[in-house]
Amino acid sequence: MKILAIETSCDETAAAIINNDHGQLQVETNIVASQVEHNQTGGVVPETAARLHSERIHQIIDRATKGGQLEYDAIAATVGPGLIGSLLIGETIARLLAKLKNKPFYAVNHLAGHVYSAWLEQTPELPALVLLVSGGHTELIYLSNHYQFELLGATRDDAAGEAFDKAARLLGLPYPGGPAIAQAALKGNDQAIDLPIPLAEKDSLEFSFSGLKGALSFWVSKQGSLSEQQVADAAASFQRTVGDILERKLLAALAQKVETKSVIFAGGVSSNQYLRTRLERAVQQHSAAKFYVPSIIYCTDNAAMIGAAGLFKAKLTKIGDDPDQPYAVADWPLDQVRLADA
Ligand code: KG4
Ligand code: ZN
Repeated sequence: MKILAIETSCDETAAAIINNDHGQLQVETNIVASQVEHNQTGGVVPETAARLHSERIHQIIDRATKGGQLEYDAIAATVGPGLIGSLLIGETIARLLAKLKNKPFYAVNHLAGHVYSAWLEQTPELPALVLLVSGGHTELIYLSNHYQFELLGATRDDAAGEAFDKAARLLGLPYPGGPAIAQAALKGNDQAIDLPIPLAEKDSLEFSFSGLKGALSFWVSKQGSLSEQQVADAAASFQRTVGDILERKLLAALAQKVETKSVIFAGGVSSNQYLRTRLERAVQQHSAAKFYVPSIIYCTDNAAMIGAAGLFKAKLTKIGDDPDQPYAVADWPLDQVRLADA
């Protein structure tokens, strides 16, 4: 089966064509337009995001389908969680295409997309433990069977990506903060600043990042104007502390779920090279499970991962969702995903 997938949940306008004709998923096309306009405001402005999706989505689908030449058997779109105005643009076009072309429509959960991004290039064995770390979410998920998501722990406040974005703003670095912090950290001393590790109890699988931002803000206010070296040291120390937190929680989850065969690191923050290397090493040292992290283009928001989640859903449910009904929801936790509406 070949699926056209559309993703417009936040600030990336994306479309892709994926197939599962040879057992393993194959990405035929994958087009992403990032809304760099939000760099000016230091964060995503929902109305601007929706308007830009509306301006660009036709061209992005046109490119993903090679001017309409590539055929497909089904259509998937992200319907939540995300910004409602943005979600509605992608899903409305997907439902219309499904109707006009008489193809099944699959409503896809964005977080399920991040989970299934790991299947785009490889085939992780189940049960899998997924550390999903993005701009809006920081979660540990256990996948015993496909589309059965057990939420083991999540953040109580900010997501890790959000913490990167806020830390970058405090240090005078651009949005999105993750890549900017990673770049600045290359020249910094990661032991220069002592930042707190909240919820450090050994068995807790809950995360918290707001204290980290608070401590960094306090440190910045004490320094006066920051030199380039101080920014680098703060960025490196911040990144290392996020690594301390993620590693500790991931290993605690692995200790609880000893049957885990695959550990998957996914979401926008998993494009961070320092964290990729560090978590892979930690998993190799402490477990027999295999470590998977998608290529960087599939870590940040993209439509290929929505196609992957759509194809797994299609395989399990056979029939599609109702193309006459809007599904968009701002909030849709992964453990509330049921196959009938996944
Ligand atoms: O998954 P994603 O593209 O969008 C959401 O679903 O949220 O994640 C975006 C987040 C942003 O907060 C961004 O700062 C972070 O991922 N990010 C990174 C890196 N690249 C993107 N964080 C740390 N290091 C990176 N290299
Ligand atoms: Zn995302």
